[in-house]
Amino acid sequence: MNQGTCLQDLPVDLQPERLPQHVAVIMDGNGRWAKKRSLPRIMGHRRGVEALKDLLRCCKDWGIEALTAYAFSSENWGRPLEEVNFLMTLFERVLRQELQEMVSEDVQIRFVGNLSSLPLSLQSEIKQSMETTRQNQGIKFTVATNYGGRQEIVQACREIATQVQKGLLKPEDIDESLFENYLYTAGISHPDLLIRTSGEMRISNFLLWQMAYSEIYVTDTFWPDFNRSEFHRALSAYQKRERRFGKV
Ligand code: IPE
Ligand code: IPE
Ligand code: MG
Repeated sequence: MNQGTCLQDLPVDLQPERLPQHVAVIMDGNGRWAKKRSLPRIMGHRRGVEALKDLLRCCKDWGIEALTAYAFSSENWGRPLEEVNFLMTLFERVLRQELQEMVSEDVQIRFVGNLSSLPLSLQSEIKQSMETTRQNQGIKFTVATNYGGRQEIVQACREIATQVQKGLLKPEDIDESLFENYLYTAGISHPDLLIRTSGEMRISNFLLWQMAYSEIYVTDTFWPDFNRSEFHRALSAYQKRERRFGKV
């Protein structure tokens, strides 16, 4: 397969019954992609959006049920203001532009993270896109925006503690499945496969609880260059893994 080739069907060497149901991606390396080309970092983010759109389509074509993408971490506020502002505006514009297509493609979009501190105009696009696609039956597409895994766990604890304080829950009611209902990702399966681009071997506060048993695949490719052949390689690697979940 050459770069840019568009396969409608699953590559023959991949076994459809052994595909991950849920793929998560840490879309890293936009800035380095741009730097390598002497372009401003924001150009990398722009191209990154195209790579994400391609991956979503590919997941849909190949029968993957859920895709979760890390778009902005709770730590990314520490970047230069111009970059943060650019990203917020980019998210808003892309969401507005792509909503109709997501509707026609039957995509169910959902945002996870601390959404209440995003710009109000972005919050309103987010709300609208989630409401409009709520009933869709196709791929579940989750975008982690102002997301931090530790923060997610702490807010879940706080909500549960409040329920206990009100007498609506007892401490002994708290188990893993109850706890999951208080996470942003309630109702979404755990990722089977995590892909991180640009070579970094860390999870950067992404889905800490949910990735307890995810298979991790790291590629040196920068996110804007991540395409179907790269995804194919990641899936081939995944299919060679033996998932043991602590058993023998
Ligand atoms: C990922 O690319 C995009 C976001 C975190 C929003 P980076 O912007 O982190 O790119 P590098 O890691 O600096 O190359
Ligand atoms: C992780 O990438 C966050 C996103 C891709 C949105 P970062 O570039 O922020 O992660 P670090 O700083 O390299 O750990
Ligand atoms: Mg980075």
